[in-house]
Amino acid sequence: MDLSPSPNQPSGELAGFRSAFKSFATEAIHVGQEPEQWNSMAVVPPISLSTTFKQHGPGNHSGFEYSRSGNPTRNCLEKAVAALDGAKYCLALASGLAATVTITHLLKAGDGIVCMDDVYGGTNRYFQRIAAELGLDVSFADCSKVELLKAALKANTKLVWIETPSNPMMKVVDIQACADLVHEQNKDIVVVVDNTFMSAYFQRPLALGADICMYSATKYMNGHSDVVMGLVSTNRDDLNERLKFLQNALGGVPSPFDCFLCNRGLKTLHLRMERHFKNAMAAAKFLEASPMVERVIFPGLPSHPQYEVMKKQCTGCPGMISFHIKGKLEQATTFLKNLKLFAIAESLGGYESLAEHPAIMTHASVPPNERKVLGISDTLIRLSVGLEDEADIIEDLKQALAAADPKIK
Ligand SMILES: Cc1ncc(COP(=O)(O)O)c(C=O)c1O
Repeated sequence: MDLSPSPNQPSGELAGFRSAFKSFATEAIHVGQEPEQWNSMAVVPPISLSTTFKQHGPGNHSGFEYSRSGNPTRNCLEKAVAALDGAKYCLALASGLAATVTITHLLKAGDGIVCMDDVYGGTNRYFQRIAAELGLDVSFADCSKVELLKAALKANTKLVWIETPSNPMMKVVDIQACADLVHEQNKDIVVVVDNTFMSAYFQRPLALGADICMYSATKYMNGHSDVVMGLVSTNRDDLNERLKFLQNALGGVPSPFDCFLCNRGLKTLHLRMERHFKNAMAAAKFLEASPMVERVIFPGLPSHPQYEVMKKQCTGCPGMISFHIKGKLEQATTFLKNLKLFAIAESLGGYESLAEHPAIMTHASVPPNERKVLGISDTLIRLSVGLEDEADIIEDLKQALAAADPKIK
């Protein structure tokens, strides 16, 4: 009997998760990259820096007029990401927040937004401090409990914003259940999923009923911590038409050089994500066994409250781990200061391991009372586990935890 795993049957860390999306690597490498689109037949898309494009006659052009409204290098990236999201369309924006702003411009004053309660601090700040002041009716709900989302929907709700796993508490939202509920209530409500943490390799929100999938491509999609960018994918013709208009009319577009880099990053997305998962799983198991750790929140572990949802809707789990260290703020800061391989830095999803203190760093803009309700306490630490050697990652965590242990002082 042949006991070797079938190519479609996930094994190792991936066991129990959905099978990888068909031809993902091939599409990441080839879609939108056809050499035939260039006179030079370049195999790697050139960086097209020209801001303007010659027309054969007035209004008679080759598809490009002015680089804000369309750019050949950006085009290659947008086509590749659309394929990876299983989408008809994708648009690239200057940052994840530029993508959020562009999407929010689908609404007008008086319209309502229901946003996941635990989201990236900048998303929370934009909705509460800018969108609300422009007349949008913003409310927050824990969408990991579908009944709480249901209770939050109002007659004026036009947008539901989901982030899963959430940042930094790693709550997992059942995208299909939420999208079905929202669309049953009103099919015109636009369901957006911020897919930044998962990347297109581990989760396809559009196939689960979402209308828009967005990313801070600054993270895993680019994966090399050298580009700030946003991406927005959809299958809906009407939404794409409006968003494309907004991309040009608001003008938050990325540079051709950044598009080149992100397009290059996508070529190894599948390899990077599998290694992030493997390293993060090892780190999460190590932390869970440590007497210095109060609680580990990693959606790839069976101890995670929504582990079953995770396995049902994802093909794996990224390198993001949150954990509560035992003790107080002092232990958390001692741990962070003693890390040697992990850099204390904001951001995530690059090849290098990073660690941060959400209450002081990424989520400082969330009001303190809201941080308390969410569990973003002084002892919470967030890791972005990178692609280094597993043994070196564990060794670094081990020595930093030992340094923070109050018993050995
Ligand atoms: C989940 C998530 N969404 C959106 C953003 C905003 O993206 P950007 O920093 O590219 O504007 C971030 C940034 O950290 C994020 O982590």
